[in-house]
Amino acid sequence: MTASALYIPPKPLSLWSVVALARVLWKGDGNLLELLPAAAYHFDVGNLGYSRRSTVLFNHPDAVREIMRDADGVFPKSDLMVNALEHLIGDSIFVTDGERWKRQRAMIDPAFSHMRISHAFAAMQAAVNDHLVTLKERAASGDVFSLDLTMSHLTADIICRTVFSTPLQSGVAVDVFEDFTLFERSAVQVDVLRLIVKPAWSDTPQPPEVLAACERIRHHLGELVDSHLNEPDRYDDIASSVIAARDQETGVPFSREELIDQLGVFFLAGHETTASALTWAFYILAAQPHWLARLREEIDRVAGDAPITFELTRQLPLVKAFFKETLRLYPPITFMPRVALRETTVAGRRLRRGALVMIAPWTLQRHSKWWSDPHAFQPERFLPENESALTPGAYIPFGQGPHTCVGAGFAQTESVLILAELVRHFDWLLSPGQAVRPAARMTTRPANQIMLHVAHRAP
Ligand code: HEM
Repeated sequence: MTASALYIPPKPLSLWSVVALARVLWKGDGNLLELLPAAAYHFDVGNLGYSRRSTVLFNHPDAVREIMRDADGVFPKSDLMVNALEHLIGDSIFVTDGERWKRQRAMIDPAFSHMRISHAFAAMQAAVNDHLVTLKERAASGDVFSLDLTMSHLTADIICRTVFSTPLQSGVAVDVFEDFTLFERSAVQVDVLRLIVKPAWSDTPQPPEVLAACERIRHHLGELVDSHLNEPDRYDDIASSVIAARDQETGVPFSREELIDQLGVFFLAGHETTASALTWAFYILAAQPHWLARLREEIDRVAGDAPITFELTRQLPLVKAFFKETLRLYPPITFMPRVALRETTVAGRRLRRGALVMIAPWTLQRHSKWWSDPHAFQPERFLPENESALTPGAYIPFGQGPHTCVGAGFAQTESVLILAELVRHFDWLLSPGQAVRPAARMTTRPANQIMLHVAHRAP
């Protein structure tokens, strides 16, 4: 590929640190991506130097592996993230560590086995088919809509149907979705000012409306859990699998409160992440229609007019590579903060007790040493014949080590299904005049919603 043919999709400005900090504080949107100095895309390890708390970003695959494998239990998930989630899913697998986490993870893994995902596939297909009907209506009317919201609805619907056998439109599920959206918008995850002026271990209070939303979400999740506990024979879904799980040593199942924590995290971790990746994927398809044509060629050749089955999702290497490249440039989990529990050394760098240890898929996956043309969108990197040339450990959108995403297989399957079905039916047309800019919130999102319309595929 010639340099002039490279497509560089939207990326943040990389300014000199002090200017970047002043800009982020002035704009007030806490967009940490714009705080990253240009050097963060080139160094192996460096300080993010504006914080009173020592914050060190590691960008070398060996150091990242050491921290994320965490054989000595020195680097638990950071207190910033744990604080943000404790009222919602305080005792869930996403935030626990040590023995408690190990027990929970062993009980949850079987719910996301290959067999379980293939079993859940029919529910994924039903959700996608309903959304195809909505999109056909939008194509007929020409209505402009928000790409971000559409993807969030679709992935939330898939989670509700596969976890609880309940479509999003049912009363309880839609209430949970709306409160989760409020939580994601308003929860204080990383307040830039607090990060700068507060010492390690300080608490981050949540606003009252967030605490109220957490209470409502837990109440509704409790209703969904109760319907499963009261009529166990009626369901055969991911919730039933987690309810049936037993502690390997004691034989004890999850309590009702623990089930609310664990099933709540599937909703939180399982829909916004996939929606973020798909928002970027469809934005790129709309901005670069030649990719739409290339993906269609593969889908038509492999599937013809037949519905996309579970087996067919495994036979679309270009669609899969397109999705993987989207996850490289727009990893939904932008940062994975850890904290050093005691003074220690990693890759020759001394870390103080309480130091914030940043692993950033965002910088690792755009790093000049590990990637050629790091900011360019080139799905061919991930075709099976090219993958052996990739730097091991430089691609971690689903994390690494023991805490690797439980839902990775689930997410890849639903995303290939959604891409294949929505690409084969519609042209995606951006509304003019939009400046698209990525922002790191709970997930990596466009700073402003992307507006577009669809048209029936041109013959
Ligand atoms: C494209 C979609 C997704 C991406 C990019 C993603 C990414 C990640 C990452 C990076 C982690 C590790 C976080 C860390 O170590 O700090 C993680 C953990 C987790 N993810 Fe996902 N995820 C996705 C979809 C899902 C889905 C669909 C589910 C469930 C339905 C899920 C459930 C979880 C859970 C429960 C954990 C915690 C695992 C543990 O700590 O043992 N994720 N995810």
